[in-house]
Amino acid sequence: MSETAFINGKFLPLAEASVSIEDRGFQFGDGVYEVIRTYGGRPFNLDAHLARLNRSAEAIGLRQPYALEQWRDSIAEGLRLAAFSESKIYVQITRGVAPRDHAYAPQLEPTVVMTVRELHPLPAAVQAAGVEAMTVDDVRWGRCDVKSINLLPNVLARQQAKHAGVFEAILVRNGEVTEGSVSNVVIVQHRTLITAPQGPRILSGVTREVVLGLARQEGLDVQERYPSQAQLYAASEVFLTGTTVEVLGVVRVDGKPIGRGEPGPVTLSLAKRFLEQTR
Ligand code: PDD
Repeated sequence: MSETAFINGKFLPLAEASVSIEDRGFQFGDGVYEVIRTYGGRPFNLDAHLARLNRSAEAIGLRQPYALEQWRDSIAEGLRLAAFSESKIYVQITRGVAPRDHAYAPQLEPTVVMTVRELHPLPAAVQAAGVEAMTVDDVRWGRCDVKSINLLPNVLARQQAKHAGVFEAILVRNGEVTEGSVSNVVIVQHRTLITAPQGPRILSGVTREVVLGLARQEGLDVQERYPSQAQLYAASEVFLTGTTVEVLGVVRVDGKPIGRGEPGPVTLSLAKRFLEQTR
């Protein structure tokens, strides 16, 4: 088993992989990415991730160098070479290598990078106990639906959370909850789920989509509108969704307990159904 990288069609050990310092990803954050994980060794919802990668690339006028089938084959090959029982796959396309200039030449050859590393899931005890979060001002740009590698506001928000000793930063813009720094946020009012709508203010999560579908199947009322910060504090439950967090209960926000201060029945039930879905 070994951490594996892929650069422009070639596989090599991750420790030996490098790209030019003139790559526009490095210089400008000019690129897009996806994070995919495996369950039972197989990538979960791969086509949804690849479709979003295409949408992100298109939104920034970046030529997507590989067809869907090529991506599927390369990812399968990366998983085979790395040979972990569960993997975290990172895929990134940047605009390519060129002398530093904000404007770019349209014919640049994109740089395609992939890494396959061992997946370290959240400990079961953390899943069971839930996590704490804090609110942070959402200062991001107007196209959060693009999964851009330009993550500075997310990085700073997550670091603020880490510094405060809590798990996630919940982003709030004008009194409305958008999402987390690495996750989507859902608030529960008894049998009603409220979460920010798809659109330019959030990265519309692959996990979010699956979980909202499960909630509807369970007969829960799903409302896609921005919860207010007051509704966040007053929620009976709050949970996060995401590739790395799955369905994760939030038990305190800004030091205030949510509901009874433990993951509630709706969260636990959706977490269980999500887990079944991944098998
Ligand atoms: N991020 N919102 C933001 C800002 C995210 O960065 C992510 C995931 C999500 C959840 O999306 P999904 O369910 O498709 O994973 C929502 C990945 C895991 C990351 O940047 O590492």
